[in-house]
Amino acid sequence: MSEKRRSDGRAAERIDELRRQIQRHDYLYYVLDQPEISDAEYDRLFRELQNLEADNPDLITADSPTQRVGAPPSERFEKARHLAPMLSLQNAFDESEVKAFDQRVRKFLGISSEKGLSYVVEPKLDGLACSFRYERGRLVRATTRGDGETGEVVTANARTMKALPLVLRDREPPRLLEARGEVLMHRRDFEGLNKQREEAGERVFANPRNAAAGSLRQLDPGITGKRPLDVFFYDLVEEGWPESRFESQWEKLEEIRSMGLKTTPLSRRVNGIGEALTQYQELLDSRHEVSFEMDGAVIKLDDLDHQRRLGSVARSPRWALAFKFPPEEALTEVKDIAVQVGRTGILTPVAKLRTVVVGGVRVSNASLHNQDEIDRKDVRIGDYVYVHRAGDVIPQVLRVVREKRPDRARRFHMPTSCPRCGGEVVRESGEVAHRCRNVSCPAQLQGRLEHFASRTGMDIDGLAGRTIEQLIESGLVREPADLYRLRVADLERMERMGAKSASNLVNAIERSKRVSLRKFIHALGIRHVGEHVAGVLARRFGSVQALFDLPIEDLTSVREIGPEVAGSVRSFFDSPQNRRAVEGLLEVGVSPEPEQVSRDTPFADKTVVFTGALEKMTRDEAKAEVERRGGRASGTVSRKTDLVVAGPGAGGKLSTARRYGIEIVDEETFLSMLGG
Ligand code: IVH
Repeated sequence: MSEKRRSDGRAAERIDELRRQIQRHDYLYYVLDQPEISDAEYDRLFRELQNLEADNPDLITADSPTQRVGAPPSERFEKARHLAPMLSLQNAFDESEVKAFDQRVRKFLGISSEKGLSYVVEPKLDGLACSFRYERGRLVRATTRGDGETGEVVTANARTMKALPLVLRDREPPRLLEARGEVLMHRRDFEGLNKQREEAGERVFANPRNAAAGSLRQLDPGITGKRPLDVFFYDLVEEGWPESRFESQWEKLEEIRSMGLKTTPLSRRVNGIGEALTQYQELLDSRHEVSFEMDGAVIKLDDLDHQRRLGSVARSPRWALAFKFPPEEALTEVKDIAVQVGRTGILTPVAKLRTVVVGGVRVSNASLHNQDEIDRKDVRIGDYVYVHRAGDVIPQVLRVVREKRPDRARRFHMPTSCPRCGGEVVRESGEVAHRCRNVSCPAQLQGRLEHFASRTGMDIDGLAGRTIEQLIESGLVREPADLYRLRVADLERMERMGAKSASNLVNAIERSKRVSLRKFIHALGIRHVGEHVAGVLARRFGSVQALFDLPIEDLTSVREIGPEVAGSVRSFFDSPQNRRAVEGLLEVGVSPEPEQVSRDTPFADKTVVFTGALEKMTRDEAKAEVERRGGRASGTVSRKTDLVVAGPGAGGKLSTARRYGIEIVDEETFLSMLGG
C-alpha cells in the first residue's frame, strides 16, 4: 500500500469521527438547546473537518456537516420558506485570515490594493437569527433561521417581544419585506432568569443565547412573554431580491433604523481592511461593557453591487466574514465541591477552584447548579476544568480535561442531610433540585417565617422582613413556635421597635393562635400547597394531625389533589423535624379550627367557575369562600356548571357559559351573594 493511500485511510477515519461528533453537537445545540461543548471547541472540530476535506476533496459527501449550515428545524413548529435564503458566515480566527479575505475580494473585483474597500463592521451578536416578514408595514410572520431555506414559524411568540414593532414607522412601506436580526437576551436578564429558575428547582440555561433560543421556541407564547427578549436588526430583503433599492449595507442599516427597527449602536463603516481590524479591536475591548454577548465582529463589504458580483459559496457569502473573538476560557483545578443552601431550601453544589483569571476577572467559585449537571459534565473533585463566564458575572464550568484527571479524583455526591441544619435532603420526582425539607432550617427560616406570618397564613400584623431578620439573628426564633414565646421585653430591644409596637406585635402573635385550619396548613409552606389546596385538605381531613400518617392513596383519592401535591404533603409530614415543628405550634397554644361548612347558602352543592379578573379578592380566596358555603369551584365551564362569576378580561369561558345558558354574575353580585 502506498504512503498516500494509508494516510487517506486515516483521514477517512478521522473525517467520519468528526462528522459523527459534529452531528451530535448540532443536535444538542439546535434541537435540544443543551450544548455540551463551547463554541470555540465546536469551531475547532468544524475547522479540522473543513481542512481535512479540503485536503481530500474526494471524501466530501453531500451529508457532511460542512455542506449544510444550520440544523433541521424541529418538528414542533410549522415551517415557512424565507423570501431569500438566510446565509451563514465564514469564520476567521486571526488577522492573517482577515487580510486574506480582503485580498480575495479585491482580486475577484479587480480592485488594486491602493484603493481601500469600504466595509461595515458590526458586532456579531450571540443570539438566534430570525426573519420578520412585514406586509404593507404590518408584522405578519416571524421565522427562525432553521436550515437557512426554511425556518420555524414563531409569530405568536415573537409578538410578545416589546422591542419588535408590530407596525413599521415607514409612511409608505413596501408591499413585502423581511427584516433579519438577532433575538437575544441581555446578560443581566439572563442572570435574573437563571436565578429564578434555580430557586424554582428548574434547569438553568447554559448561556444567554440558549436562554433566548429556549424562550423564543416555546409552545406557549405566554411563557415567551415573560422572558426578557430583545432583538437587533442587521439585514433587509424585499421583493425582487437579489435586486435592491439600496446601494450599500450602510444605507440599509439606516433604513432599518428609520423604519423603527432596532439596530446596535456599535456598527461602523470603515475604509480599508486596516480600519476594519481597528474596529474589531474596539469591539473586543468593549466586550464587557456591552450589555449583551458578542462573539466576534462581522465584516461586510459595503457596496451591494460588489456583494452581488461576489455571490456566495456553500451557503456563505463571499463578501462577508465573521472574525471571532478569542474564547474567554481558563484552565484550573477543582479543589473541592461545596454545597450551599438557598432561601428556598435548594442545595446548590459549587466548585471551589484554584483562583484563575477569566476575561480579566479573578474566579475562584463556579456554580455547578445541580447533581444532573455534575453527572452530565462528569466533574470530579481534583479534576482540571475549563471555566468561562456566562453572562458577565457567574462563572461556569465548561468541561473537564479528562487526560489530566488525577488518580485521586473523587466523585461528588449530594449530601443526604442538609449542611446547614442536618435535616433530610430529598429530591422530588421530576425535579433536578435537591432540597432540605426541614421547615426550621436556618437557611430557609427567613422565607418560611415571612410566609408563615403573611396575610394568607397566620396573618400576624407587623411581623415581616427586617423584624424577622432580627429575631433570627438574635437567636430568639429558631422555629415557628418560638414566635409564641416572645415577650414585649425581648422585642423592645430590637431596632426601630418602641414599647407600643412591641406590645402590638405580641398581641398580634397571640391573636393568631385562633386560626382556621385552612390558613394554618397554608402557613406551613408545604410545596405545591397553595390556599386552595390547603382549604381542600382542611375540609377533607379535619385536622393537621390527621395528615401526619395519612397514606398517600387517601390523599390522591381526593379529586383536587394530584400525585405531585400528595407526594409533597407526604414528604413534608415524613420529616421528623417538621412534625416536631407542627407539634411545637400546637403545644404553645395555636389551635387551628376546621371551618364550618354551612349548607344553608346560595352556593350549597353548586359548581361555580371564575373567569376574568377579580378586584376585591384573589381567586383562591373567592374559591375558598364558595367552598366554605358548601359549593365547589371548578376551572372549566361545562353543562354541569351552575354559576359563572365574570370579571374584566373574561374570554372563552364566558362565551361558553352564554352558549349553555348558565347564570352569569359580576364580582359585586358575587360579593352580595356571599354576604347573604
Ligand atoms: S449577517 C450574510 N450580521 O451569524 C448573512 N449575521 O454565521 C449572514 N449574526 O445566522 C447574516 N450578528 O445568527 C449577520 N451583525 C450580524 C450578525 C450575524 C450575528 C449571526 C446570525 C447568523 C450567523 C451567521
